[in-house]
Amino acid sequence: MTDMRVGIVKEIKNSENRVAIIPQNVSEFIAHGHQVLVEAGAGEGSGFSDEEYAEAGAVLCSKAETVWENAELLYKVKEILPPEYKYLRDDLILMTYIHSNSHVEQTDKLLDSGIISIALEDVSSDDPMKKWPLVANMGELAGKGGFLAALYYAQSVHGGPGLLLANVAGDDQPVVSIIGCGYTGKGAAEFASAFGNKVRILDVNFKAMEEAKKYFPPNVSFMYSNRANILKCLKDSDVIINCILWDKTRKDHLIYREDLKLMKKGAMIIDVACDDAGAVETCRSTTHEDPVFYEEGILHYCVDNIPSAFSKTSSVRFSNDSLPFAMEVADKGVVQALKDNKHLRRGLTTYKGVLTMVETGIKQNRPYTEPDEFVKNL
Ligand SMILES: NC(=O)c1ccc[n+]([C@@H]2O[C@H](COP(=O)([O-])OP(=O)(O)OC[C@H]3O[C@@H](n4cnc5c(N)ncnc54)[C@H](O)[C@@H]3O)[C@@H](O)[C@H]2O)c1
Repeated sequence: MTDMRVGIVKEIKNSENRVAIIPQNVSEFIAHGHQVLVEAGAGEGSGFSDEEYAEAGAVLCSKAETVWENAELLYKVKEILPPEYKYLRDDLILMTYIHSNSHVEQTDKLLDSGIISIALEDVSSDDPMKKWPLVANMGELAGKGGFLAALYYAQSVHGGPGLLLANVAGDDQPVVSIIGCGYTGKGAAEFASAFGNKVRILDVNFKAMEEAKKYFPPNVSFMYSNRANILKCLKDSDVIINCILWDKTRKDHLIYREDLKLMKKGAMIIDVACDDAGAVETCRSTTHEDPVFYEEGILHYCVDNIPSAFSKTSSVRFSNDSLPFAMEVADKGVVQALKDNKHLRRGLTTYKGVLTMVETGIKQNRPYTEPDEFVKNL
Protein backbone atom coordinates (compact mmCIF):
# COMPACT_ATOMS: atom_id res chain seq x y z
CA MET A 1 0.00 0.00 0.00
CA THR A 2 1.36 3.40 -0.98
CA ASP A 3 0.33 6.59 0.67
CA MET A 4 -0.55 9.25 -1.80
CA ARG A 5 -1.27 12.98 -1.75
CA VAL A 6 -4.63 13.43 -3.44
CA GLY A 7 -5.53 16.94 -4.59
CA ILE A 8 -8.93 18.53 -5.22
CA VAL A 9 -9.25 21.95 -6.83
CA LYS A 10 -12.19 24.23 -7.49
CA GLU A 11 -13.52 23.71 -11.03
CA ILE A 12 -12.91 26.79 -13.16
CA LYS A 13 -15.23 26.03 -16.09
CA ASN A 14 -18.10 28.51 -16.44
CA SER A 15 -21.05 27.55 -14.15
CA GLU A 16 -19.42 24.26 -13.18
CA ASN A 17 -20.33 23.83 -9.53
CA ARG A 18 -19.46 20.19 -8.95
CA VAL A 19 -16.57 18.96 -6.83
CA ALA A 20 -14.72 15.66 -7.29
CA ILE A 21 -14.65 14.45 -3.67
CA ILE A 22 -17.32 15.04 -1.05
CA PRO A 23 -16.18 15.29 2.59
CA GLN A 24 -17.39 11.73 3.45
CA ASN A 25 -15.04 10.34 0.83
CA VAL A 26 -12.14 12.48 2.06
CA SER A 27 -12.47 10.42 5.25
CA GLU A 28 -12.21 7.23 3.16
CA PHE A 29 -8.88 8.35 1.67
CA ILE A 30 -7.60 9.30 5.14
CA ALA A 31 -8.70 5.89 6.49
CA HIS A 32 -6.59 4.28 3.75
CA GLY A 33 -3.54 6.26 4.90
CA HIS A 34 -3.57 8.94 2.18
CA GLN A 35 -3.48 12.72 2.48
CA VAL A 36 -6.06 14.96 0.85
CA LEU A 37 -5.32 18.55 -0.15
CA VAL A 38 -8.39 20.66 -0.91
CA GLU A 39 -8.42 24.15 -2.39
CA ALA A 40 -10.45 26.42 -0.11
CA GLY A 41 -13.93 26.90 -1.53
CA ALA A 42 -13.72 23.82 -3.81
CA GLY A 43 -16.96 22.37 -2.41
CA GLU A 44 -18.85 25.65 -2.03
CA GLY A 45 -20.81 25.32 -5.29
CA SER A 46 -22.08 21.94 -4.12
CA GLY A 47 -22.93 23.06 -0.61
CA PHE A 48 -19.88 21.55 1.15
CA SER A 49 -17.99 23.97 3.39
CA ASP A 50 -14.25 24.14 4.05
CA GLU A 51 -15.03 23.25 7.69
CA GLU A 52 -16.63 19.97 6.58
CA TYR A 53 -13.52 19.11 4.57
CA ALA A 54 -11.25 20.04 7.47
CA GLU A 55 -13.31 17.91 9.88
CA ALA A 56 -13.03 14.99 7.45
CA GLY A 57 -9.23 15.32 7.67
CA ALA A 58 -8.36 17.34 4.56
CA VAL A 59 -5.60 19.93 4.50
CA LEU A 60 -7.12 23.18 3.20
CA CYS A 61 -4.96 25.23 0.82
CA SER A 62 -5.81 28.82 0.01
CA LYS A 63 -4.47 28.60 -3.57
CA ALA A 64 -5.17 26.14 -6.39
CA GLU A 65 -1.47 26.33 -7.22
CA THR A 66 -0.49 24.76 -3.87
CA VAL A 67 -2.81 21.83 -4.50
CA TRP A 68 -1.62 21.27 -8.08
CA GLU A 69 2.06 21.51 -7.09
CA ASN A 70 1.88 19.17 -4.10
CA ALA A 71 -0.62 16.56 -5.28
CA GLU A 72 0.48 13.23 -6.71
CA LEU A 73 -3.06 12.37 -7.86
CA LEU A 74 -5.12 15.33 -9.05
CA TYR A 75 -8.75 14.24 -9.09
CA LYS A 76 -11.31 16.57 -10.61
CA VAL A 77 -14.52 16.72 -12.64
CA LYS A 78 -14.01 18.67 -15.89
CA GLU A 79 -11.35 18.81 -18.56
CA ILE A 80 -8.17 20.89 -18.16
CA LEU A 81 -8.62 24.49 -19.27
CA PRO A 82 -5.83 26.83 -20.51
CA PRO A 83 -5.15 28.51 -17.08
CA GLU A 84 -4.46 25.00 -15.71
CA TYR A 85 -2.04 23.86 -18.46
CA LYS A 86 0.96 25.25 -16.56
CA TYR A 87 0.37 22.78 -13.71
CA LEU A 88 0.65 19.62 -15.82
CA ARG A 89 3.85 17.64 -15.18
CA ASP A 90 5.24 14.16 -15.72
CA ASP A 91 5.06 12.99 -12.11
CA LEU A 92 1.36 13.80 -11.75
CA ILE A 93 -1.61 11.46 -12.23
CA LEU A 94 -4.82 13.10 -13.43
CA MET A 95 -8.30 11.58 -13.13
CA THR A 96 -11.15 13.63 -14.58
CA TYR A 97 -13.59 13.80 -17.53
CA ILE A 98 -11.15 14.57 -20.37
CA HIS A 99 -12.91 14.12 -23.76
CA SER A 100 -9.51 14.26 -25.48
CA ASN A 101 -11.03 13.53 -28.90
CA SER A 102 -12.87 16.85 -28.93
CA HIS A 103 -10.18 19.00 -27.22
CA VAL A 104 -7.15 19.00 -29.50
CA GLU A 105 -5.15 21.66 -27.62
CA GLN A 106 -5.71 19.89 -24.29
CA THR A 107 -4.49 16.62 -25.86
CA ASP A 108 -1.31 18.40 -26.99
CA LYS A 109 -0.71 19.68 -23.45
CA LEU A 110 -1.36 16.28 -21.86
CA LEU A 111 1.14 14.68 -24.22
CA ASP A 112 3.77 17.43 -24.02
CA SER A 113 3.72 17.54 -20.22
CA GLY A 114 4.15 13.77 -19.82
CA ILE A 115 1.27 13.59 -17.32
CA ILE A 116 -0.48 10.25 -16.71
CA SER A 117 -4.12 10.99 -17.46
CA ILE A 118 -7.17 8.78 -17.01
CA ALA A 119 -10.48 9.82 -18.57
CA LEU A 120 -13.35 8.96 -16.26
CA GLU A 121 -15.88 8.97 -19.11
CA ASP A 122 -13.99 6.06 -20.67
CA VAL A 123 -13.77 3.92 -17.54
CA SER A 124 -15.87 0.86 -18.43
CA SER A 125 -17.85 -1.85 -16.62
CA ASP A 126 -19.00 -5.43 -17.26
CA ASP A 127 -22.68 -4.46 -17.03
CA PRO A 128 -23.99 -4.47 -20.65
CA MET A 129 -26.71 -1.95 -19.72
CA LYS A 130 -24.17 0.37 -18.10
CA LYS A 131 -21.06 0.09 -20.20
CA TRP A 132 -19.77 3.53 -19.16
CA PRO A 133 -20.78 3.88 -15.51
CA LEU A 134 -19.33 7.36 -15.00
CA VAL A 135 -21.23 8.69 -18.01
CA ALA A 136 -24.42 6.88 -17.09
CA ASN A 137 -24.77 8.57 -13.72
CA MET A 138 -24.54 12.12 -15.10
CA GLY A 139 -26.69 11.22 -18.14
CA GLU A 140 -29.49 10.08 -15.89
CA LEU A 141 -29.38 13.40 -14.01
CA ALA A 142 -29.25 15.36 -17.29
CA GLY A 143 -32.33 13.54 -18.58
CA LYS A 144 -34.22 14.20 -15.37
CA GLY A 145 -33.11 17.85 -15.46
CA GLY A 146 -34.27 18.05 -19.08
CA PHE A 147 -37.77 17.04 -18.08
CA LEU A 148 -37.73 19.53 -15.19
CA ALA A 149 -36.75 22.28 -17.65
CA ALA A 150 -39.77 21.34 -19.78
CA LEU A 151 -41.98 21.46 -16.67
CA TYR A 152 -40.69 24.99 -15.98
CA TYR A 153 -40.84 26.42 -19.50
CA ALA A 154 -44.33 24.98 -20.13
CA GLN A 155 -45.67 27.39 -17.50
CA SER A 156 -47.27 30.57 -18.83
CA VAL A 157 -45.37 32.63 -16.25
CA HIS A 158 -42.16 31.42 -17.90
CA GLY A 159 -43.29 32.16 -21.44
CA GLY A 160 -44.82 28.74 -22.12
CA PRO A 161 -48.28 27.57 -23.18
CA GLY A 162 -49.48 27.33 -19.56
CA LEU A 163 -49.46 23.57 -19.50
CA LEU A 164 -48.83 21.49 -16.39
CA LEU A 165 -46.90 18.46 -17.57
CA ALA A 166 -48.80 16.04 -15.37
CA ASN A 167 -51.91 13.87 -15.29
CA VAL A 168 -54.67 16.21 -14.13
CA ALA A 169 -58.26 14.90 -13.90
CA GLY A 170 -60.49 16.55 -16.47
CA ASP A 171 -57.91 17.07 -19.22
CA ASP A 172 -56.04 14.80 -21.59
CA GLN A 173 -52.53 13.80 -20.56
CA PRO A 174 -49.72 15.84 -22.15
CA VAL A 175 -47.53 13.91 -24.59
CA VAL A 176 -43.77 13.74 -24.03
CA SER A 177 -41.73 12.03 -26.75
CA ILE A 178 -38.18 11.07 -25.89
CA ILE A 179 -35.73 10.16 -28.65
CA GLY A 180 -33.13 7.69 -27.36
CA CYS A 181 -33.53 4.95 -24.77
CA GLY A 182 -30.09 5.36 -23.23
CA TYR A 183 -29.09 6.70 -19.83
CA THR A 184 -30.40 10.22 -20.43
CA GLY A 185 -33.57 9.10 -22.21
CA LYS A 186 -34.48 6.75 -19.37
CA GLY A 187 -33.75 9.48 -16.80
CA ALA A 188 -36.14 11.83 -18.61
CA ALA A 189 -38.75 9.08 -18.97
CA GLU A 190 -38.62 8.21 -15.28
CA PHE A 191 -39.69 11.74 -14.29
CA ALA A 192 -42.07 12.36 -17.21
CA SER A 193 -43.93 9.10 -16.52
CA ALA A 194 -43.97 9.60 -12.76
CA PHE A 195 -45.81 12.90 -13.38
CA GLY A 196 -48.43 10.95 -15.33
CA ASN A 197 -47.67 12.16 -18.85
CA LYS A 198 -48.20 10.01 -21.91
CA VAL A 199 -44.57 9.14 -22.61
CA ARG A 200 -43.05 7.64 -25.75
CA ILE A 201 -39.50 6.49 -26.09
CA LEU A 202 -38.09 6.07 -29.59
CA ASP A 203 -34.96 4.08 -30.33
CA VAL A 204 -33.44 1.96 -33.06
CA ASN A 205 -32.18 -0.58 -30.53
CA PHE A 206 -34.94 -3.09 -29.72
CA LYS A 207 -32.94 -4.70 -26.94
CA ALA A 208 -32.60 -1.37 -25.12
CA MET A 209 -36.36 -0.77 -25.44
CA GLU A 210 -37.29 -4.32 -24.37
CA GLU A 211 -35.10 -4.03 -21.28
CA ALA A 212 -36.53 -0.61 -20.38
CA LYS A 213 -40.11 -1.81 -20.92
CA LYS A 214 -39.65 -4.25 -18.02
CA TYR A 215 -39.46 -1.54 -15.43
CA PHE A 216 -41.36 1.46 -16.81
CA PRO A 217 -45.07 1.94 -16.00
CA PRO A 218 -47.80 1.46 -18.66
CA ASN A 219 -47.96 5.18 -19.51
CA VAL A 220 -44.61 4.69 -21.30
CA SER A 221 -44.72 3.18 -24.80
CA PHE A 222 -41.82 2.30 -27.05
CA MET A 223 -41.63 3.15 -30.76
CA TYR A 224 -39.10 2.30 -33.41
CA SER A 225 -37.28 5.46 -34.40
CA ASN A 226 -37.81 6.16 -38.09
CA ARG A 227 -38.77 9.22 -40.08
CA ALA A 228 -42.51 8.45 -40.07
CA ASN A 229 -42.65 7.96 -36.29
CA ILE A 230 -40.57 11.06 -35.61
CA LEU A 231 -42.95 13.12 -37.75
CA LYS A 232 -45.92 11.64 -35.87
CA CYS A 233 -44.32 12.64 -32.56
CA LEU A 234 -43.53 16.13 -33.80
CA LYS A 235 -47.21 16.64 -34.69
CA ASP A 236 -48.81 15.52 -31.47
CA SER A 237 -46.22 16.01 -28.70
CA ASP A 238 -46.14 18.82 -26.19
CA VAL A 239 -42.47 18.15 -25.54
CA ILE A 240 -39.76 16.46 -27.59
CA ILE A 241 -36.69 15.46 -25.59
CA ASN A 242 -33.65 14.53 -27.68
CA CYS A 243 -31.35 12.10 -25.88
CA ILE A 244 -29.29 10.45 -28.59
CA LEU A 245 -25.57 10.34 -28.99
CA TRP A 246 -25.07 11.84 -32.48
CA ASP A 247 -22.05 10.97 -34.57
CA LYS A 248 -20.28 14.29 -35.02
CA THR A 249 -19.29 13.46 -38.58
CA ARG A 250 -22.94 13.12 -39.73
CA LYS A 251 -24.34 15.86 -41.91
CA ASP A 252 -28.00 14.80 -41.80
CA HIS A 253 -30.48 15.36 -38.96
CA LEU A 254 -33.41 13.58 -37.36
CA ILE A 255 -35.39 16.81 -36.96
CA TYR A 256 -34.98 19.43 -39.69
CA ARG A 257 -35.82 23.13 -39.44
CA GLU A 258 -38.72 22.54 -41.83
CA ASP A 259 -40.17 19.90 -39.47
CA LEU A 260 -40.65 22.44 -36.66
CA LYS A 261 -43.60 23.83 -38.63
CA LEU A 262 -45.46 20.58 -37.87
CA MET A 263 -45.29 21.14 -34.12
CA LYS A 264 -48.18 22.38 -32.01
CA LYS A 265 -48.18 26.00 -30.83
CA GLY A 266 -46.36 26.12 -27.49
CA ALA A 267 -44.64 22.75 -27.98
CA MET A 268 -40.94 22.68 -27.20
CA ILE A 269 -37.70 20.85 -27.89
CA ILE A 270 -35.45 19.94 -25.00
CA ASP A 271 -32.16 18.88 -26.56
CA VAL A 272 -30.28 17.10 -23.80
CA ALA A 273 -27.76 15.68 -26.26
CA CYS A 274 -27.26 19.28 -27.49
CA ASP A 275 -24.98 18.62 -30.44
CA ASP A 276 -24.83 21.83 -32.48
CA ALA A 277 -26.80 21.21 -35.69
CA GLY A 278 -26.75 17.51 -34.75
CA ALA A 279 -29.82 15.29 -34.47
CA VAL A 280 -31.82 18.53 -34.23
CA GLU A 281 -30.77 20.85 -37.07
CA THR A 282 -31.74 24.00 -35.15
CA CYS A 283 -29.84 23.09 -31.97
CA ARG A 284 -27.01 25.21 -30.65
CA SER A 285 -25.76 24.55 -27.14
CA THR A 286 -26.71 27.02 -24.43
CA THR A 287 -25.74 27.80 -20.83
CA HIS A 288 -27.57 27.89 -17.51
CA GLU A 289 -27.32 31.72 -17.67
CA ASP A 290 -29.06 31.88 -21.05
CA PRO A 291 -30.71 28.49 -21.52
CA VAL A 292 -33.37 28.91 -24.22
CA PHE A 293 -33.97 30.38 -27.67
CA TYR A 294 -36.74 30.18 -30.26
CA GLU A 295 -36.49 28.88 -33.83
CA GLU A 296 -39.59 28.82 -36.04
CA GLY A 297 -41.55 29.80 -32.91
CA ILE A 298 -40.46 26.66 -31.04
CA LEU A 299 -38.66 26.97 -27.73
CA HIS A 300 -35.31 25.14 -27.64
CA TYR A 301 -33.54 24.31 -24.36
CA CYS A 302 -30.01 23.06 -25.09
CA VAL A 303 -27.94 23.49 -21.90
CA ASP A 304 -24.75 21.45 -22.20
CA ASN A 305 -24.02 20.87 -18.51
CA ILE A 306 -27.43 20.19 -17.01
CA PRO A 307 -26.09 18.13 -14.03
CA SER A 308 -24.28 21.20 -12.74
CA ALA A 309 -27.71 22.64 -11.81
CA PHE A 310 -27.97 19.78 -9.30
CA SER A 311 -24.42 20.22 -8.16
CA LYS A 312 -24.81 18.69 -4.72
CA THR A 313 -26.59 15.57 -6.01
CA SER A 314 -24.19 15.31 -8.95
CA SER A 315 -21.12 15.67 -6.74
CA VAL A 316 -22.37 13.00 -4.34
CA ARG A 317 -23.03 10.65 -7.27
CA PHE A 318 -19.78 11.49 -9.07
CA SER A 319 -17.69 11.12 -5.93
CA ASN A 320 -19.24 7.83 -4.84
CA ASP A 321 -19.09 6.27 -8.31
CA SER A 322 -15.54 7.31 -9.10
CA LEU A 323 -14.11 6.71 -5.61
CA PRO A 324 -13.30 2.97 -6.06
CA PHE A 325 -11.18 3.77 -9.14
CA ALA A 326 -9.35 6.71 -7.55
CA MET A 327 -8.84 4.70 -4.37
CA GLU A 328 -7.36 1.78 -6.32
CA VAL A 329 -4.85 4.16 -7.93
CA ALA A 330 -3.99 5.69 -4.55
CA ASP A 331 -3.72 2.33 -2.77
CA LYS A 332 -1.78 0.33 -5.34
CA GLY A 333 0.01 3.03 -7.29
CA VAL A 334 -1.04 3.82 -10.85
CA VAL A 335 0.94 1.09 -12.64
CA GLN A 336 -0.39 -1.78 -10.52
CA ALA A 337 -3.93 -0.38 -10.60
CA LEU A 338 -3.79 -0.17 -14.42
CA LYS A 339 -2.42 -3.71 -14.64
CA ASP A 340 -5.08 -5.13 -12.33
CA ASN A 341 -8.17 -3.28 -13.52
CA LYS A 342 -9.13 -3.50 -17.20
CA HIS A 343 -11.96 -0.99 -16.71
CA LEU A 344 -9.62 1.65 -15.34
CA ARG A 345 -7.14 0.84 -18.11
CA ARG A 346 -9.85 1.57 -20.70
CA GLY A 347 -9.79 5.19 -19.53
CA LEU A 348 -6.00 5.61 -19.79
CA THR A 349 -5.52 8.55 -22.14
CA THR A 350 -1.87 9.59 -21.96
CA TYR A 351 1.14 8.09 -20.18
CA LYS A 352 4.40 10.04 -20.17
CA GLY A 353 3.95 11.39 -23.68
CA VAL A 354 2.29 8.31 -25.22
CA LEU A 355 -1.31 8.53 -26.40
CA THR A 356 -3.31 5.46 -25.35
CA MET A 357 -6.84 6.66 -26.17
CA VAL A 358 -7.49 4.88 -29.45
CA GLU A 359 -10.49 7.01 -30.55
CA THR A 360 -8.47 10.20 -30.12
CA GLY A 361 -5.57 8.79 -32.11
CA ILE A 362 -7.90 7.89 -34.96
CA LYS A 363 -9.91 11.11 -34.88
CA GLN A 364 -6.92 13.44 -34.56
CA ASN A 365 -4.64 11.38 -36.75
CA ARG A 366 -1.99 10.93 -34.04
CA PRO A 367 0.14 7.88 -33.26
CA TYR A 368 -1.25 5.81 -30.38
CA THR A 369 -0.71 2.54 -28.53
CA GLU A 370 -3.63 0.43 -27.30
CA PRO A 371 -3.77 0.66 -23.49
CA ASP A 372 -3.73 -3.16 -22.95
CA GLU A 373 -0.60 -3.47 -25.03
CA PHE A 374 1.03 -0.41 -23.44
CA VAL A 375 0.34 -1.36 -19.82
CA LYS A 376 1.65 -4.93 -20.35
CA ASN A 377 5.10 -3.45 -20.91
CA LEU A 378 5.17 -1.09 -17.91
N1 LIG B 1 -26.73 18.27 -21.67
C1 LIG B 1 -26.07 17.63 -20.72
O1 LIG B 1 -25.78 18.16 -19.66
C2 LIG B 1 -25.71 16.19 -20.92
C3 LIG B 1 -25.31 15.41 -19.82
C4 LIG B 1 -25.05 14.04 -20.03
C5 LIG B 1 -25.12 13.51 -21.33
N2 LIG B 1 -25.45 14.32 -22.38
C6 LIG B 1 -25.53 13.82 -23.77
O2 LIG B 1 -26.70 13.06 -23.96
C7 LIG B 1 -26.52 12.20 -25.09
C8 LIG B 1 -27.06 10.83 -24.81
O3 LIG B 1 -26.25 10.25 -23.81
P1 LIG B 1 -26.57 8.79 -23.26
O4 LIG B 1 -25.54 8.54 -22.21
O5 LIG B 1 -28.00 8.66 -22.93
O6 LIG B 1 -26.23 7.92 -24.55
P2 LIG B 1 -26.57 6.40 -24.77
O7 LIG B 1 -25.56 5.90 -25.73
O8 LIG B 1 -26.76 5.71 -23.46
O9 LIG B 1 -28.02 6.42 -25.44
C9 LIG B 1 -28.26 6.89 -26.70
C10 LIG B 1 -29.41 6.06 -27.28
O10 LIG B 1 -29.77 6.64 -28.52
C11 LIG B 1 -30.13 5.59 -29.38
N3 LIG B 1 -30.14 6.02 -30.78
C12 LIG B 1 -29.12 6.07 -31.65
N4 LIG B 1 -29.58 6.49 -32.85
C13 LIG B 1 -30.91 6.72 -32.72
C14 LIG B 1 -31.93 7.18 -33.58
N5 LIG B 1 -31.69 7.48 -34.85
N6 LIG B 1 -33.18 7.31 -33.07
C15 LIG B 1 -33.45 7.01 -31.78
N7 LIG B 1 -32.52 6.56 -30.93
C16 LIG B 1 -31.27 6.42 -31.39
C17 LIG B 1 -29.12 4.50 -29.08
O11 LIG B 1 -29.55 3.23 -29.55
C18 LIG B 1 -29.03 4.60 -27.56
O12 LIG B 1 -29.96 3.72 -26.95
C19 LIG B 1 -25.01 12.24 -25.40
O13 LIG B 1 -24.81 13.04 -26.52
C20 LIG B 1 -24.41 12.87 -24.16
O14 LIG B 1 -23.22 13.60 -24.46
C21 LIG B 1 -25.76 15.63 -22.20
